[in-house]
Amino acid sequence: MARILVTSAIPYINGIKHLGNLVGSQLPADLFARYKRGRGDEVLFLCATDEHGTPAELAAAKAGKPVAEYCAEMHAIQSEIADGFGLSFDHFGRSSSDENKALTQHFAGVLADNGLIAEVEEEQVYSNADGRYLPDRYIEGTCPNCGYDKARGDQCENCTKQLDPTDLIDPRSAISGSTDLEVRKTKHLYLRQKSMRDDLNTWIDSKTDWPILTTSIAKKWLNDGDGLQDRGITRDLDWGVPVKRGDDDWPGMEGKVFYVWFDAPIEYIACSQEWVNAGKGDDWKRWWRTDVENGGADDVTYYQFMGKDNVPFHTLSFPATILGSKEPWKLVDYIKSFNYLNYDGGQFSTSQGRGVFMDQALEILPADYWRWWLLSNAPESSDSEFTWERFQDGVNKDLADVLGNFVSRVTKFCRSKFGEEVPSGGTYGPREEKLIADLTARIRAYEANMDAVEVRKSAADLRAIWVLGNEYLQEAAPWAAFKEDPDAAAATIRMALNLIRLYAVLSAPFIPTSAAKMLSAMNTLDTEWPGDVGEALNVLPAGHAFTVPDVLFAKISDDARAEWAERFAGVRT
Ligand code: 2FM
Ligand code: ZN
Repeated sequence: MARILVTSAIPYINGIKHLGNLVGSQLPADLFARYKRGRGDEVLFLCATDEHGTPAELAAAKAGKPVAEYCAEMHAIQSEIADGFGLSFDHFGRSSSDENKALTQHFAGVLADNGLIAEVEEEQVYSNADGRYLPDRYIEGTCPNCGYDKARGDQCENCTKQLDPTDLIDPRSAISGSTDLEVRKTKHLYLRQKSMRDDLNTWIDSKTDWPILTTSIAKKWLNDGDGLQDRGITRDLDWGVPVKRGDDDWPGMEGKVFYVWFDAPIEYIACSQEWVNAGKGDDWKRWWRTDVENGGADDVTYYQFMGKDNVPFHTLSFPATILGSKEPWKLVDYIKSFNYLNYDGGQFSTSQGRGVFMDQALEILPADYWRWWLLSNAPESSDSEFTWERFQDGVNKDLADVLGNFVSRVTKFCRSKFGEEVPSGGTYGPREEKLIADLTARIRAYEANMDAVEVRKSAADLRAIWVLGNEYLQEAAPWAAFKEDPDAAAATIRMALNLIRLYAVLSAPFIPTSAAKMLSAMNTLDTEWPGDVGEALNVLPAGHAFTVPDVLFAKISDDARAEWAERFAGVRT
């Protein structure tokens, strides 16, 4: 039994995520975790909320709540929606946990001990009215280049010129509008990752099986232009992990916190500690420490899932933290990254409320409809686009016409002709042999694509597996055979009912709720992954009772499609 560690990029706490976020990390990670569990592997699947940083502080202020309270509430909401989508995390943690605080401070301490932290004095804008330092993007003013009066301290949106806050004419706080700003000197910690460039290069070069999207982004940051830069890992904010050197105070760093991107990936490890402390597991070191006396995670294969914008942090910064610690932590083995899913001719946007958000999606249709469409259209080799027409088409054709129709026809026909039990009589012949051979080939291809984390190809294989059942039924035509040769019809239906069980097992990673309904209708708990396909199609013997399930997938009507397209055309308020 292999051991598989799966993490999904941890979503920011500020707000409910949209379908583009979902398909870029949590959903494919769940697909993979479910598949590996289905194959009998031991899986630990972790995700969390990313709770630190200025956006969290500002969202809380906007909601009129203390930030800790806001984060606790949003965590509960995100957790409930994740359940609604069937995301099967072993634990859904929080980057603001005590476990993550301690571990983040630990890493900073050992990095400093290893000479990899530099203390750097910088100038930063302080707002007297807000009583805080302002990150570059929270300073606004007039662009010295084009005169645009809402330029941000990091960039002018109008002419795209990169700016420093001190370049702005008439700068003001984007939070309060105050112009009572001053430049103050402040000290920050930098991770000296430049010195780890060769190690990182060698490590990335050794990953010959990674998706091109992942390696190309990593290599670009490593080798292009100025290459890998040392990186500030602290901020002048109130909300975050307080800067400490292990358990000790860090002189000169009082009142500062670690940068959100320093502590967020450490949460992958801390999340497993939260999992243990929540009483759900008993040993996190088995998954993360490669030294044998601490559990020997060397036989663990670790997969990370994320959108392409997260790749530099996972291929460079986080590995720099891990490698720089010189401690025996497990490094990622495979990084699956995704392009973007667009929404109806534009982008999904959290800040603009554009697109369909996870809570809204569940209000209009069950999770499996979304899971199937999103995964079978995952933005792997390029960006992909959600339109209501494409969604309707995919759901109606694949789920309703192919899979749902098969289940419905077979179970209803059996009930009307043979009753609600697997019929006896008749024998299997060349048609069944061919079916088993075709299925075997497709199932082995499906497994290979799933193992290689090829999401769309896996979906195409699964669909082809469903189609084989329909073709078999169409050719055997038991409704016609029944009149002349009821035994032949019985054999076909016996095979077809067994196919429903097999489909449930194979489809569960994509559509877990529907798969569970199919199993329950087939009145079986046997979810064993098919080795020998012929044997797997003999699990339900003649005489085994079953029930006809309710409609598995209702078709999306043109009216419903038009109504949703209109409802989601604007922005969310
Ligand atoms: O892009 C995002 O949504 C980030 N919150 C992802 C963080 S992933 C990791 F590093 F924890
Ligand atoms: Zn400008």
